[in-house]
Amino acid sequence: MSEQRQPVGVIGVGWVGLVTAACFAELGHPVIARDILPEKVESLSRGELTIHEPELGDLLRRNAERITFTTDMEELLAGARLLFVCVDTPPTYSGDADLSRVRSVVADLSPDGGHVLVMKSTVPAGTGESIRRDLPGLPYVSCPEFLKEGSAVKDFMHPDRVVIGTDAGDEAGAAAVAALYEPLGGEILPTDVASAEMIKLASNAFLATKISFINEIANVCEEVGADVGEVSRGMGLDERIGSSFLRAGIGYGGSCFPKDVSALKMLAGNTGYHFQLLTAVIEVNELQKRRVVGKLEKHLGSLLGKRVALLGLAFKPDTDDMREASSLVLAARLQGEGAEVVAYDPVASERAGEMLGSVEMADSALEALDGVDAAVLVTEWGEFAELDWAEAAARMARPLLVDGRNFLDPVKLRALGFEYEGIGKSSVDAPTPAASD
Ligand SMILES: NC(=O)c1ccc[n+]([C@@H]2O[C@H](COP(=O)([O-])OP(=O)(O)OC[C@H]3O[C@@H](n4cnc5c(N)ncnc54)[C@H](O)[C@@H]3O)[C@@H](O)[C@H]2O)c1
Repeated sequence: MSEQRQPVGVIGVGWVGLVTAACFAELGHPVIARDILPEKVESLSRGELTIHEPELGDLLRRNAERITFTTDMEELLAGARLLFVCVDTPPTYSGDADLSRVRSVVADLSPDGGHVLVMKSTVPAGTGESIRRDLPGLPYVSCPEFLKEGSAVKDFMHPDRVVIGTDAGDEAGAAAVAALYEPLGGEILPTDVASAEMIKLASNAFLATKISFINEIANVCEEVGADVGEVSRGMGLDERIGSSFLRAGIGYGGSCFPKDVSALKMLAGNTGYHFQLLTAVIEVNELQKRRVVGKLEKHLGSLLGKRVALLGLAFKPDTDDMREASSLVLAARLQGEGAEVVAYDPVASERAGEMLGSVEMADSALEALDGVDAAVLVTEWGEFAELDWAEAAARMARPLLVDGRNFLDPVKLRALGFEYEGIGKSSVDAPTPAASD
């Protein structure tokens, strides 16, 4: 059997692990995937998808024969040599990354088991070095993951780059990982472990910085009568800047940016370095979500007793991931102001319902809009672009819309009688080309 046809081991089958397992199986490799949650393993073994992610269901169905899901670490260790660690690394109360799941995986490994530990989880720089210290002799490769939820399969199968960090002595393990990724065609970047760890954190921190930057520009645009859609377009055409992650809105969320930005800030702080820029990035992001309240108050006065609909709850479209979603902060802020909140999301309602106990969940966008004093578009799901907004206006007690993602056409909505508030653009109806933003 060639190196590439040996079973690939995956530890932790959440967003990253499940996509990794499915994609390696699609490339023809047998995969053994282990999670500690029996109900997750049972669902996946029955062919039931545990997350909403485009293309993933098809991939898992097509490759069901190649993937074994198990809770049994022994089974994994007996069958697979390359072990891709994809466990979660959530934030601790201090804002550092919580490495307890990573540590518990490492505790199950021994240096002489013939395995290669491939770290896909996002970990602070220095983690690889400390694992190598604890388990000398166990080959260690840092292979951070850059996929985006909502396009995770596509991102995995068509990577911009594959970063493979390794230190002296572990070159054979790194070569085996590189061989797995070779058919995908992305640039393979060999580097040392600490640099690989930093590439991941720095990439996320930079993207978050871009978002907070354009959000601050948006806030200034509102003051000076400029349109941030036009500004982003003009900036993005400069190839030194690029157009991605320059869309103003109500801030970033999700399971990665908030925790990774904080983890990098804390990592720097732990070494005695004050990463000032990231402190601002985090603060701007927090305040950006809250600006929605001011926009509503501008039209409604006090929100006490007002009924407000949230359209979209997931942290971004095409996922049901609610981790650090802007909707969570918004719902709490609106309720804090005395508003009654009703919400709808095309796929995240179940997860959201568990987290937003006191928010009424609607079965459709139109149902959510029934009789409300205002609506906030929180997540730019495609179905909101297709909504019958004339019907929506008729159903709302007051057709006031805060478009938190600059997703809808203000000219069209105003023509339907809406009071429309975007982010970083004039709230007065004006015939500008921004309509296509
Ligand atoms: N979600 C993303 O978009 C994304 C993208 C790039 C990188 N990452 C990083 O990848 C890692 C995983 O993220 P995720 O979103 O897939 O997390 P997740 O919470 O969706 O999944 C983690 C899984 O690991 C399992 N697990 C925990 N401890 C375990 C153990 N000891 N053995 C086996 N399984 C265990 C959990 O039960 C869970 O199913 C994180 O470090 C994250 O920062 C995530």
